[in-house]
Formats: sequence, C-alpha cells, structure tokens
Amino acid sequence: MSLEREKRTVRLAEKLAREGDLSDGELLELIRDRNEASARCLRRLAGEARDRVYGKKIYIRGLIEFTNYCRNNCFYCGIRRGNEKAVRYRLKEEEILECCREGFELGFRTFVLQGGEDPWYNDERLEHLVRAVRREFPDCAITLSVGERSRESYERLFAAGVDRYLLRHETAVKSHYEMLHPAEMSFDHRMQCLRDLKDIGYQTGCGMMVQSPGQTEEDLVADLRFMKEFRPHMIGIGPFLSHKDTPFKEEKSGTAELTVYLLSIIRLMLPEVLLPATTALGTAEEGGRKLGVLAGANVVMPNLSPAGVRKKYMLYDNKLSGGSEAAEHLDLLREEMGSIGFEVAVDRGDSRMDG
Ligand code: 5AD
Repeated sequence: MSLEREKRTVRLAEKLAREGDLSDGELLELIRDRNEASARCLRRLAGEARDRVYGKKIYIRGLIEFTNYCRNNCFYCGIRRGNEKAVRYRLKEEEILECCREGFELGFRTFVLQGGEDPWYNDERLEHLVRAVRREFPDCAITLSVGERSRESYERLFAAGVDRYLLRHETAVKSHYEMLHPAEMSFDHRMQCLRDLKDIGYQTGCGMMVQSPGQTEEDLVADLRFMKEFRPHMIGIGPFLSHKDTPFKEEKSGTAELTVYLLSIIRLMLPEVLLPATTALGTAEEGGRKLGVLAGANVVMPNLSPAGVRKKYMLYDNKLSGGSEAAEHLDLLREEMGSIGFEVAVDRGDSRMDG
C-alpha cells in the first residue's frame, strides 16, 4: 500500500464524514484500498457521529429464536429446509411469554421474535402471539423477524402491535442474490417486502452478510447505495460464516476486519441508524462485538431463548450463545461495554430517524 493511496483513503473517509455520502467510485476506492490508517480514521469519525446522536448508550434487544423450522433453502444458512441434520424445535406462545417475562425482569424493553419461515406460524397464530406479548408488556417494543410475508400479513401484524421488523435484504444485486438462494426465491419479492414494511409504518431493518460467497466489492457498494436510498431505521450486518451442513460448507468465511470497516461507513452515511454489533461479528473474532461498538455500532442483541434450544438455532458453525451473548449474563455485557466506556441503556431505544 503506497503512502499516496493511504492518504487518499483517509481523505475519502473525512469527506464521507463531512458530506454523509460519496460517489460509488469513491466508496469502491475506500473499500478496495482500505488500510490501517483509513480504518482508524473511519472508526474515530463514526464513533463521533454515533456519540452525537446516541451518546455512549448501547441499546439492548432480547432475542427470542422461537422456531427453527424454515420453508426456505438458502445456500448459506444452517436452518435451511434441506439440512436434515438440524434438530427442529418450535416454542409455543406460553414459552415465548415466559422468555419475555424473564427478559423484562432483566431489564429488556425490546423483544425480538425471530424465526425461520415456519408455516405453522400462520397469520392467526402469529397475531395471537403478538397480541399476548403486547397485552402483557404495553411499554415494550416488539420486533418481528420471520421473513417474507404478504402485505396483508404485515398489515395485520402491525395492527396487532408489532413496532419493528427485521428483514435483511442479503444483497442489493440481483445476480448475487441468485448465487445465494435457490431459483424459487425472488430478489424482487424480498425488496417488495422491505418497501411494504416501511410503507405500513414499521421501523424497518435491512442488512447483509459481509463476504458471502460471490460477493464483490462492487456488490458492497451497491448495498451501501441501496441502504442510503432506502433509509432503513436499523441495519444488521455480520460476516458470512460457513456452516458444515450447507452447500457453502467449503466457502471462506468473512472477516471481522471488513465488517467493522463497513459499520463505520454505514454510521457515517446514516448517522441515526440503529446499528447492532452482531453475534456473527462476535463469533468471527474474540472481542468482535466490542470492536463493532468502537467502530460505530450502538445496539447489541443478547440471546433470550430458553437455554435448551440455543444450540439448535445454528445459522453458522460455532454461533455464540453463552457468556455475554446470553441475556441472563447482562452483568457480563455491562462489564464488557463499561470496559470501553459505554453504558447499557434500559429504555426501548427507538429509532431517531424521521422516516
Ligand atoms: N453466516 C452469517 N450469517 C448468516 N445468516 C444466515 N446464515 C448465515 C451464515 N452462514 C444471517 C442472514 C439472515 C440472518 C437471520 O442470519 O443474513 O438474514
């Protein structure tokens, strides 16, 4: 890396912080020519941007992985339909409510109900579940993350009391989408779902894996461009990590290094976005979640699922669910965040974006 290129990337980082955007060509250069100096510069500027909007507060979300049945067959995912080794489970409403009660006692004010696309959880059952959570926890935010559904279904669940919805776009490039998913899945439908969600009034989250198979640096620029234009309230990114029982078992995993670099760029492009330091980031590298927060993230999502099912929601090999990833060890998380100068917040942590 020549000194000249290093200087150029640092100047691009500064311009991004000033203007909140760069041309696609400049973003590509910032990513392709990344180096220790540009990473350091982005980290500092993104940290300042996050602090201006959210201060040193880290929001927590209690993640309840309530079913690992899935009708989809995504090539990267450990709970894909075709993985016959996956041990399937489905929590019933009362068990999910029990998780929420435990979470509430611990201090969680957002519950994220996440699952595979499980046909058993049709609109009627999901609506019943959401209404029960809403009734018992009127002051908590409910986030749903159960994949692609019809607009009518999204409307019904919103009316039942869901506040937020997470649906990663996975990649903003159709040809790349088709490398990650079987032909029966549709890029256009996924994008339509995201538009519907936002239009209905959900605080909406999108996101992608970093260095998923076939992803180019140009594809990452397309992801950034899409996110800048879509203006989601939340963005979840984490490194692709291979899973031994999927078609991508031999594929190379993504790095924490590029993931945190992108976190900083995203923070500078969308200063108000809610940006988690994800479990995948923590799994890719020891201390990865701290690096994520130091790079501009402001959310963490500890696991609130019953201990007995945590190991069954294996999206990728070695997925963490113990230590400070476990909701019941919030003290460890407080310590971890405290050690880098951050405080775990106990409010709902709604988006500061205006829509
Ligand atoms: N590595 C990293 N992330 C994964 N996801 C699914 N499988 C993997 C994997 N092998 C992510 C997808 C999905 C989210 C729930 O988990 O982006 O949207």
